[in-house]
Amino acid sequence: MASPSSHSLTVTQQEQLLVEERVQDFFKILSPDNYHVVLELWRDQHIDYLQRGINRLGPGHSVLDANRPWLCYWILHSMVLLGEPIDEELKQRTVNFLCRCQDPNGGYGGGPGQMAHLATTYAAVNALVTVGGDTALASINRENMLKFLHRMKDPLGGFRMHDAGEIDVRGSYTAVAIAKMLGILVPALMHNLANFIVSCQTFEGGIGGEPGAEAHGGYTFCGLAALILINESHQLDLPSLLDWAVFRQGRVEGGFQGRTNKLVDGCYSFWQGGVFPLIQRLLDNVHLQSSMSYAKTEHMDKPLPLNRDMSSEESVLLRESSAQQLDVTETNSECEDTNRGLIAEKIFPVFDCFHKKSVYIETAEEHQAHSRNSSSDGEQGSHDSLLYFIEKEIQCGPLFNTHALQGYILLCSQVPDGGLRDKPGKYRDYYHTCYCLSGLSSAQYSWSHRIGTPPPPAAVLGPFTNLLEPVHPLFNVVLDRYYDAQRYFSSL
Ligand code: FPP
Ligand code: ZN
Repeated sequence: MASPSSHSLTVTQQEQLLVEERVQDFFKILSPDNYHVVLELWRDQHIDYLQRGINRLGPGHSVLDANRPWLCYWILHSMVLLGEPIDEELKQRTVNFLCRCQDPNGGYGGGPGQMAHLATTYAAVNALVTVGGDTALASINRENMLKFLHRMKDPLGGFRMHDAGEIDVRGSYTAVAIAKMLGILVPALMHNLANFIVSCQTFEGGIGGEPGAEAHGGYTFCGLAALILINESHQLDLPSLLDWAVFRQGRVEGGFQGRTNKLVDGCYSFWQGGVFPLIQRLLDNVHLQSSMSYAKTEHMDKPLPLNRDMSSEESVLLRESSAQQLDVTETNSECEDTNRGLIAEKIFPVFDCFHKKSVYIETAEEHQAHSRNSSSDGEQGSHDSLLYFIEKEIQCGPLFNTHALQGYILLCSQVPDGGLRDKPGKYRDYYHTCYCLSGLSSAQYSWSHRIGTPPPPAAVLGPFTNLLEPVHPLFNVVLDRYYDAQRYFSSL
């Protein structure tokens, strides 16, 4: 079948083809001789770009005047991900600045004197945890923070972003992430929250910002992470969430789109790519829910097996069946696909570098018993289950193509002069630098058996020196800093 002429394409389709062409121009550079050079992470350039931002921001940044704690977080988190130490002077400057953003009634505003907002509060807390040390952590007024969080809580379950502000899934995530990190997640904050988030899951399987809104990667990460933090993720339809997320990865680009029929964007490397390390830890529940719905469907003669985690073989099968499903849904573009040639899915094929060890596999009953024991309503119960969730050994590889994502980030998102971007043709910025690097880190570590342990070398695309610091998959702060903060706040 001949490809349709460009005038019969919609604007969206034309834009998609243009992006694919641009991405393929970058893929063309790759050859077996230059593989390691071309796929190198340009650490020094990125660190230079970040350091320039710490000292001075150009006039273009004035539009971010209400997002200054975000700039602190994006830059500092990126530096720490790259293994760059934060010196004492920068630590002190960050703490002093964020103290000026702290609202006397709790929370942090977008700049000194601005009203407290949940998004900038999350950014400030993450920036201070990233800076680390007693002075930074002690500068957060937890008592006022709790008052602020109670004030943002809506009786129907969700959270407002600020006084009289909108209620959406960002609010749910930022509120519980802040509370959890600071050790102040009291039951009243969790009341009805799961109902609100679950009501935002759409027919597609992803989560929208509010009930009735379109599923989007940003909100899907927020909704899923928030539910895990309050130990309620089983209330979502997990198989359909996974199904939606899997299909957001571009076969041609290797990167992720934020929503159906939209363009790839480097920042979704974290928002979408970051959903998988969470789902990877929930596979027994995904499995359980699938089995139950498969069992209910009469024409399905073979329900998925109950009571055990998915093995790596099964996960490969699931990926393969996903790929077949994609071909079926794209019957019109069969020829186009074969003509596309250099597509990420082919250059970076899925392979299994997860060497299955003989390990103890927990049954679904054991998992449920564990969850029951640790899900008493209070802070302590959910804290235990969170530790269990994060630190348990993972039994199978990731459910997306981690190499194709790394390929997109390294080849298409890096800017030679430092910094990372949405896609070729766009300018770099600190937001995309932060979330491209966060996504790169989580893709690299998706093959680790245990959180924070080095992945097998084959899991890291390009030279092994590309390996970044590991992040906490729920908070997106570097793991060591998270543990330091946990120790500090639990000792108070
Ligand atoms: C669509 O923009 C983007 C949104 C509707 C918001 C996305 C939400 C996040 C990134 C999560 C925020 C999280 C926190 C913690 C505050 P667009 O239409 O320009 O992009 P698109 O075409 O890629 O959908
Ligand atoms: Zn983006």
